[in-house]
Amino acid sequence: MAVKLIDYGTKHYSQMVSLRYALLRKPLGLAFDDGELEEEMNDILIGCFDDDKLEGCCLLKQAGDGALRLRQMAVVSGLQGKGIGRILLQFAENIARDRGYKKIIMHARKTAIGFYEKLGYKTTSDEFEEVTIPHYIMEKIL
Ligand SMILES: CC(C)(COP(=O)(O)OP(=O)(O)OC[C@H]1O[C@@H](n2cnc3c(N)ncnc32)[C@H](O)[C@@H]1OP(=O)(O)O)[C@@H](O)C(=O)NCCC(=O)NCCS
Repeated sequence: MAVKLIDYGTKHYSQMVSLRYALLRKPLGLAFDDGELEEEMNDILIGCFDDDKLEGCCLLKQAGDGALRLRQMAVVSGLQGKGIGRILLQFAENIARDRGYKKIIMHARKTAIGFYEKLGYKTTSDEFEEVTIPHYIMEKIL
């Protein structure tokens, strides 16, 4: 297994978009819009690979005030609960620290709160709805 940065527009990026669509959008009857994906050329894109097969991914987006926003965290369904999410998030945090960021924030799905809490994130908002499902703002000081 290898965690690495993904370059926007490459074959690995297409794999990442497919995984995110299958796990995060299709079950909700939603799609990505072109503008949303185009913006990702400026983001830090991260994938966990077994040879050339993508097992999980996430991305980091500029959020101002020395913070990055974590988005689109997803691990292949049959591989969840095996530590891949933790490895991805720790890699993302190390990149953020190395680049001088002080905080990671996110809009976390209610169903994933327990995962982020295990990695040291705290909720900082009331529940709100996004992509049709309940979310909370969570953050961690790096
Ligand atoms: C949420 C997700 C990214 C976690 O990745 P993962 O590889 O399954 O998680 P890990 O195996 O690294 O788990 C790390 C720890 O968090 C726990 N955990 C994982 N998912 C959890 C969840 N949904 N709720 C509570 N705890 C969870 C694990 O039990 C493990 O605990 P342990 O250290 O005590 O053993 C993954 O399950 C996923 O892709 N889910 C569907 C998409 C999704 O909800 N993405 C998040 C959008 S905000």
